[in-house]
Amino acid sequence: MSITHVFDTHFGDGGKGKIVDLLAQEAHAVVRYHGGNNAGHTVENELGKFPLHLVPCGIFNENALACITDGVVLDLEVLADEIDMLHKVLADFRGRLLVSPRAHVIMPYHKILDRLYEETKGDKKTGTTGRGIGPCYADKVSYNGIRLGDLEDIDRFEELLHVQLDIKNKIIVALGGVELDFRVVKDEILRHYERIRAYVKEPFSRIHDLLMLPNKNIVLEGAHGVFLDTDWGTYPYVTASSIVPGNVNAGAGIPAQYITNVLGVVKAYTTRVGAGPFPTELHDEVGDRLRKNGKEFGTTTGRPRRCGWLDLELLRFSIQLCGITELAIMKLDVLDGLDFVTVCTGYTLDGKQVRYEDILTSDLARVEPVYRQLPGWGFDSSTRGVTRFIDLPHNAKEYLSFIRDFAGVPVRFVSTGPARHETINSFCYP
Ligand code: GDP
Ligand code: IMO
Ligand code: MG
Repeated sequence: MSITHVFDTHFGDGGKGKIVDLLAQEAHAVVRYHGGNNAGHTVENELGKFPLHLVPCGIFNENALACITDGVVLDLEVLADEIDMLHKVLADFRGRLLVSPRAHVIMPYHKILDRLYEETKGDKKTGTTGRGIGPCYADKVSYNGIRLGDLEDIDRFEELLHVQLDIKNKIIVALGGVELDFRVVKDEILRHYERIRAYVKEPFSRIHDLLMLPNKNIVLEGAHGVFLDTDWGTYPYVTASSIVPGNVNAGAGIPAQYITNVLGVVKAYTTRVGAGPFPTELHDEVGDRLRKNGKEFGTTTGRPRRCGWLDLELLRFSIQLCGITELAIMKLDVLDGLDFVTVCTGYTLDGKQVRYEDILTSDLARVEPVYRQLPGWGFDSSTRGVTRFIDLPHNAKEYLSFIRDFAGVPVRFVSTGPARHETINSFCYP
């Protein structure tokens, strides 16, 4: 029996999609419970390669429920296109993919406002994905949102849309944008709604029926990463939802105490997309090499990801904040060929040792990482596709053991390639 919360310990894109797909093989349900199509989760399996933005990665297990719960914000066109794409490779999944009518809808004006806010902020911009995520969540918590369920009643939808367009058009025009037309917006939203309508059903009771099973196995598919969390991340260079496991109560209606496994996905090096401090960022040929070998270009926007050494100070904080019980160390193979690998074990600021939790974002941008250099494994022996710990090069084993010992939590998976089978299971425990 397990309820596993999968999430990224750093800035996202560690390989959650791969791990969720792997765990989903044994799952009764996979639940996406926050964020929107700012997320891009890649699954590579026997059917092909799929960058999923909204549909849970568990959709590939035809025996599992795939739930998009209340905490997610929905771009209806993106969801409809993703469903169409999946229908080309999967049997009909009506009744298996459930989308909560409580989920808020990303409206065209949210995307426009996202862009206008960024343009207005100039070089202080967050570097958002431009998908309207922040403005949509802002409307949700300021009682201005439109929920999926509101689209079922046309009169109600029209009433809500009239009010919102009155407000939003004033802001859009003030920021130099072009006013939106009521009929155009209404028709566009209803057209996409029609395409996904068959999937709109509150998943709460189906999930709670599963929670009552003695052998239940549920995967909670987190999005983004701890340092993009609205509260604990590098604010204001964050995203608009909460990444911590406790958010499954609000975002999916699952009491947090049901979670049995808190699985932190940590890339063997660190990347970040968008603006904000990144203490271990590399601006040299090693950074370029990590980007090239790791194909570090955004799954959602295609932007080059900033690359750097593994930041263990951030990992330490993630473990403490989220109560991580196990780790998946990803993309080990990307470090193949390096003569040495470096990790950051802490920070100093103005000559004094500091911890992440004791400084704010402006100071994080000024810290000096304390580095520890470990021997690499060159090209002597590649880790790509290795499935047994004993088959790894000696120095790769040492690198993994160093991370495990520093973290003080078991390593459940080591990933040595993008495909499902390129994985080492439970290699060792502290
Ligand atoms: P997510 O947002 O955490 O799901 O991660 P993304 O899908 O945005 O980015 C991870 C990328 O790395 C994807 O292209 C994956 O196919 C790929 N990937 C995952 N695990 C591995 C691995 O162990 N090695 C390599 N080389 N690529 C991997
Ligand atoms: P997955 O789930 C990496 C980043 C954006 C930007 C900031 C705010 O694939 O790991 P937003 O559009 O959310 O308002 O942008 O958050 N960001 C991500 N970066 N992976 C993600 O998701 C991200 N989701 C948001 O790049 O810096
Ligand atoms: Mg991603």
